[in-house]
Amino acid sequence: MVRAKQSIQSHRKDEHVFLAEKFRHDTATNDFDGVRFIHQSLPEIDVSEVDISTNFAETSWASPFYINGMTGGSQQTKQINAQLAQVAQIANLPMATGSQSVAIKDPSLADTFSVIREFNPNGFVLANIGAGNDLTVAKTAVAMTQANALEIHVNTPQEIVMPEGDQDFYWLDKIAAIVAKIGVPVIVKEVGFGMSADTIAQLKQIGVQFIDISGRGGTNFVTIENERRHDKAYDYLADWGQSTVESLFESRAFQGEVNILASGGIRNPLDIVKALRLGASAVGISGQFLHMVLKEGPTQMAENLLTWQAQIQAIMAMLGARDIQALQNAPIIFSPELRHYLDERHLT
Ligand code: FNR
Repeated sequence: MVRAKQSIQSHRKDEHVFLAEKFRHDTATNDFDGVRFIHQSLPEIDVSEVDISTNFAETSWASPFYINGMTGGSQQTKQINAQLAQVAQIANLPMATGSQSVAIKDPSLADTFSVIREFNPNGFVLANIGAGNDLTVAKTAVAMTQANALEIHVNTPQEIVMPEGDQDFYWLDKIAAIVAKIGVPVIVKEVGFGMSADTIAQLKQIGVQFIDISGRGGTNFVTIENERRHDKAYDYLADWGQSTVESLFESRAFQGEVNILASGGIRNPLDIVKALRLGASAVGISGQFLHMVLKEGPTQMAENLLTWQAQIQAIMAMLGARDIQALQNAPIIFSPELRHYLDERHLT
């Protein structure tokens, strides 16, 4: 009986990969297209002077983008994790695992996550668990991957639409206990539905210092989980949540007090620079990186991501920004829709 449930969970991980790829074409345009930099013809800078590094907790990351939480929990996703870890090592990128809850219930799956450490022994690794878990689970997850930090995901729309999803969303006390005791930095992250100023205030209130607002515009877990349902009952919920750009607007008042990370719908280096401009201190990428590793393999993908780093440096040079702090003052304009969002939410 237990074994049957475990294999359903492993199968779910494979389905997520398959469906994220299947629906990828739905995300060709998103709110990043409504953000434009004002071109400056005389930036008075040499590209080589631009510093793209960023700070996370006590460490400095050479790259302002990272591989965000996705996979593990099945043999196929172990393979993907191994390849992504190779990419992380070559391109010197931080990397998060997918949710490790499945391996805490069935320790025989632990190697589908710890493979990340095997292939990238000295890299910055982030463990990942769901928000309903307690401190013991959090510690096990961190130990499993010898992680430098922990991601806790909040994902109510996914749980609601998922046929086997949770219904108990009393999460704040558990998150607070983990943050207080775990001994590594904790990022609370969404999974593509974005965050409001109210959510960020609630997290700040319980001591959370790192928040990934992971917004709409890329991978859509309502669409993915709805596809896994026989009745397809939640078709109409596909537009739920705030986009990544809107969520960054929501985070604006908190950016000096907590560390805001951004993810959701990042397609290229320009999207990364826009997210950094809007106040993110680093940018996570999932769907696009899954696509790249499946299509290109780890060696080609790592090479492409080294090019991404050079292109971020080049775009920042065009804007005359020597570092991320300077970039955050670069002039930008917004589409009428985004301007309307700012007005309606009184965020201007
Ligand atoms: C995810 N995501 C995710 N997040 C998380 O915290 N734990 C998880 O286990 C997973 N699993 C997962 C599987 C797959 C196949 C994908 C593509 C994504 C969500 C991810 O970290 C991110 O928040 C969203 O996907 C939005 O970013 P992108 O995909 O639009 O770049």
